[in-house]
Amino acid sequence: MYKLLQKILFLLPPEAAHDLTLTSLSLLDKIGVLELFKPKYSAVPIKVMGIDFPNPVGLAAGLDKNGEYISALSNLGFGFIEIGTVTPRAQPGNPKPRIFRLVKAKAIINRMGFNNHGIDNLVENVNKVRGAGFKGILGINIGKNLNTAVDNATKDYLIGLRQAYRYADYITVNISSPNTPGLRTLQFGAELNALLSAIKNEQMSLALEFKKYVPVAIKVAPDLTDAEIQGVAEALLSNNVDALIATNTTLSRDAVQGMAHAEEAGGLSGEPVKERSTKVIAQFYKYLKDQIPIIGVGGISSAQDAQDKLDAGASLVQVYSGLIYQGPSLIKQILKAQNTKH
Ligand SMILES: Cc1cc2nc3c(=O)[nH]c(=O)nc-3n(C[C@H](O)[C@H](O)[C@H](O)COP(=O)(O)O)c2cc1C
Repeated sequence: MYKLLQKILFLLPPEAAHDLTLTSLSLLDKIGVLELFKPKYSAVPIKVMGIDFPNPVGLAAGLDKNGEYISALSNLGFGFIEIGTVTPRAQPGNPKPRIFRLVKAKAIINRMGFNNHGIDNLVENVNKVRGAGFKGILGINIGKNLNTAVDNATKDYLIGLRQAYRYADYITVNISSPNTPGLRTLQFGAELNALLSAIKNEQMSLALEFKKYVPVAIKVAPDLTDAEIQGVAEALLSNNVDALIATNTTLSRDAVQGMAHAEEAGGLSGEPVKERSTKVIAQFYKYLKDQIPIIGVGGISSAQDAQDKLDAGASLVQVYSGLIYQGPSLIKQILKAQNTKH
């Protein structure tokens, strides 16, 4: 069924297909159809970051940037949904076209550039869906505005943290998008330590203010050397960060050389990032062990791919590109395999 739908969707430009899919899903959700098809195997509960997840398969950030489709997406069977990246102020992102399919490689290149309606709009949307009875686990992924200098990035993250705090089950600090110039430099050295310590301070005071502790996860790129991974791991440990999300998209084009669109600027996701992402998870796990949980993401397009991430040390997984190429049955497949394992 999805294969047929995909044939039609792939005739459209990627961003138009994306918008049409989400609008249709939302409609199907509103008339109660999605609920009927929700996977039967959706309960494989696991506690991570102190949160009880109904199952370990989440939606990765970037698909629902404004939190407009939370209910529909969660009715596909996800154990958690990460919305965003959202910035303090609304911004248009990069000019279109800014998403490209590399069908042969089951990959995507995107340079969206954090197009979003701003944090106030996102929390309004979350409020609405919660008000309508949504009880699922929600991560809110925060970033900085393009016109905020990287030196002032902390200010934007603190705004995001404060605004999102009441509404999120966990908050992701995205310092790994390749489409906001300079953002990835926050992954290193003194900048990383300063950012993490400012975030921890604010998180602790928000916890007192709202009498609720909301865990913070840091999302990193796959393009890190061994030494850089060790540096990030040490910073996460010394600043008591609650979780790591590995990984975002890659700048490497090694796996897609010569293919149509391979030279488009942006981050590459899907199959070509799979192995690198799993390796990065394994390297991080060596340093973090069971002190800081890892959420594994990058190129998952089968139950085995998800299992490989879990075997490398991840406690939870997320999918994005695999959903575009395999359809929602991917979630069912992974859950079925996890269910038979337990
Ligand atoms: C079109 C697109 C937009 C994305 N936007 C974001 C984003 O806003 N924030 C973020 O942290 N990751 C974003 N990502 C990265 C994904 O969350 C994920 O980390 C990455 O794609 C690797 O997983 P995958 O191979 O399953 O897609 C985006 C990915 C794609 C394909």
